Amino acid sequence: MKCEVKRAGIVGVGAYVPERVMTNFELQDIVDTSDEWIRSRSGIRERRVVARDEATSDMALKASRKALDDAGVSPEELDLIIIATNTPDMLFPASACLLQDGLGAKNAGAFDLLAGCTGFIYGMSVAAQFIAAGTARTVLVTGAETMTSILNWQDRNTCVLFGDGAGAVVMKPVPEDRGILSVVLGSDGSGGKFLKIPAGGSRLPASADTVAGALHSLQMNGREVYKFAVRAMEEGSSAVLRRAGLTVDDVDFMVPHQANIRIIEHAAKKLNLPMERVAVNVDRYGNTSTASVPLALEESLRAGKIKDGDNVIMVGFGAGLTWAGLLIKWYSE
Ligand code: UT7
Repeated sequence: MKCEVKRAGIVGVGAYVPERVMTNFELQDIVDTSDEWIRSRSGIRERRVVARDEATSDMALKASRKALDDAGVSPEELDLIIIATNTPDMLFPASACLLQDGLGAKNAGAFDLLAGCTGFIYGMSVAAQFIAAGTARTVLVTGAETMTSILNWQDRNTCVLFGDGAGAVVMKPVPEDRGILSVVLGSDGSGGKFLKIPAGGSRLPASADTVAGALHSLQMNGREVYKFAVRAMEEGSSAVLRRAGLTVDDVDFMVPHQANIRIIEHAAKKLNLPMERVAVNVDRYGNTSTASVPLALEESLRAGKIKDGDNVIMVGFGAGLTWAGLLIKWYSE
């Protein structure tokens, strides 16, 4: 029996970052840190911060409209909307439903996906399955985060690292010799304790004590996450290449999760890629979690760094702990 699987690709990309820039120098007035420490340990110079009335679904809406325009797709054509986020507007309804309403995408199902900073790559892989199965033809995948809303501004270990933003892609079936070649998803829940927001869920509901203890803010063991990240980036890239029957020599461009320039440089070295063929925006946006990969992808496309037929590898890691790799043969009409 011949089973016809449709291969999914990206047909439109959009990005949005808030206007407000917060430099490392501004942070020096908030916590005991320095521009020198932040730049040398993470590569970050500045990040974007949402306006007072701006939340995750607002940024997702702006990025999504651009992605739809880029794809020449109307909101009504969307079958499915996925927002990968760790900072939804509220616990429920899903931010994806708020986005669906904002877009007027009246024919689309919508849900949020929670997989730490790896969420966007997870989201793309879910979209690819829907498209391959023929259950959906046109899917919007967004990575959107208001990380500054969950930071403890007294914790210098974390508050200097993150920023806000959103990126979106429209995915559809593409010609057989283009699109997603392989995907690998991984998780290690035993490391969940290294990166978390302890309260606000069913385990530790919100109370005066949880607020007083700053338990609604992000907590991280940076060293442990760093060790995991380095392994995850290596494993994520080698596993997707193995699955696709390709080697490091076949990779044209890498779009890694933007958490720390040292982690990105390590991953580039393992893939034998010069930094010109690696997307980097951590210096300007910090770690925007699920938004980092689509933001970096959009920037690289706009700069003409990715062309039709290129093998592009996306790799990421994050809370969960989770990691993922995705290899896509770029399609442009
Ligand atoms: O998307 C996933 C999210 N997370 C990550 O990807 C984070 C992965 N981890 C990292 O990127 C790095 O571990 C960090 C950037 C967080 C830290 O860099 P590091 O080189 O691993 O530094 P460290 O944790 O070993 O800390 C070195 C020192 C410590 O002081 P002591 O204990 O050696 O006296 C910290 O207290 O730097 C101190 N420190 C700071 N100093 C100035 C920590 N944060 C700051 C700060 N400014 N903001």
